[in-house]
Amino acid sequence: MTTALLQDAVLVTGAGRRVGLHLAERMMALGHPVIAHYRTPTEDLERLRAAGALCLPGDLADPDGGPRLAEAVRGAAGSLRAVIHNASAFAVTATDTVDALRQLDLFHAVHVRAPFALNRDLAPLLGACSARRADIVHITDIYADNPNPVFDAYCASKAALQNLALSFAKRLAPKVKVNVVQPGPILFKEWHGPEARARVLSETLLGEEGGVEAIGMAVEAILHNHYQTGAIVAVDGGRRLA
Ligand SMILES: NC(=O)c1ccc[n+]([C@@H]2O[C@H](COP(=O)([O-])OP(=O)(O)OC[C@H]3O[C@@H](n4cnc5c(N)ncnc54)[C@H](OP(=O)(O)O)[C@@H]3O)[C@@H](O)[C@H]2O)c1
Repeated sequence: MTTALLQDAVLVTGAGRRVGLHLAERMMALGHPVIAHYRTPTEDLERLRAAGALCLPGDLADPDGGPRLAEAVRGAAGSLRAVIHNASAFAVTATDTVDALRQLDLFHAVHVRAPFALNRDLAPLLGACSARRADIVHITDIYADNPNPVFDAYCASKAALQNLALSFAKRLAPKVKVNVVQPGPILFKEWHGPEARARVLSETLLGEEGGVEAIGMAVEAILHNHYQTGAIVAVDGGRRLA
């Protein structure tokens, strides 16, 4: 028995938790077939699967992670409405240079190498979308423009991801729009202590965490807008101005 290929599906990377999970749920609620990429299985993923999402595993730090995921997507979908690059690694840069270089390679693999391969290999499926235009969204960080030296390796890789979005906007127009969403303090990590949280919020004009919906609304608006490509949309409560 052959399974029908998904049409006009939305691929979300890193969809097992937090922002990626919200984006996958939001895209499903909008009626899009969803391909939820994950690295670590979670109960939330089981819920997504039960609701009809196709869940595909993969470690994007692996040098072949991007091409392998693209191959799996091509095996499951005949066309794509959107690719949302959400998967991300985040850490303070190590003091030891050998360790820091290892981190640099990891961030580059997840934030640059994998999205680069996915965009190239999935461009034909985006081109086959039945909608007027298809979308790629690169989720970067306000640190891509204004880096924090404590996280310099991470920031440099997010800046590269942002720059790649502009190349792909040029390369894939007019069928595919490519835009960037730059989160600020959307959802603290569990390891952020009370002092760090208070300091970040004191530097944020709107004075609170944004929450996953803030990113969901930005991505949804991009998908709805037929005339926006190569744009960089900050969703940061104004923190970049601090
Ligand atoms: N949260 C914020 O306030 C904030 C601020 C600035 C920018 N951002 C950006 O917004 C996006 C979502 O943020 P978030 O806080 O939800 O991110 P997160 O909690 O760090 O989650 C990232 C996702 O990426 C996956 N991932 C990490 N390394 C991977 C790898 N090697 N291969 C495959 N998947 C991998 C994680 O899977 P596992 O479950 O397996 O780890 C997780 O599902 C990210 O791009 C982040 O950089 C967020």
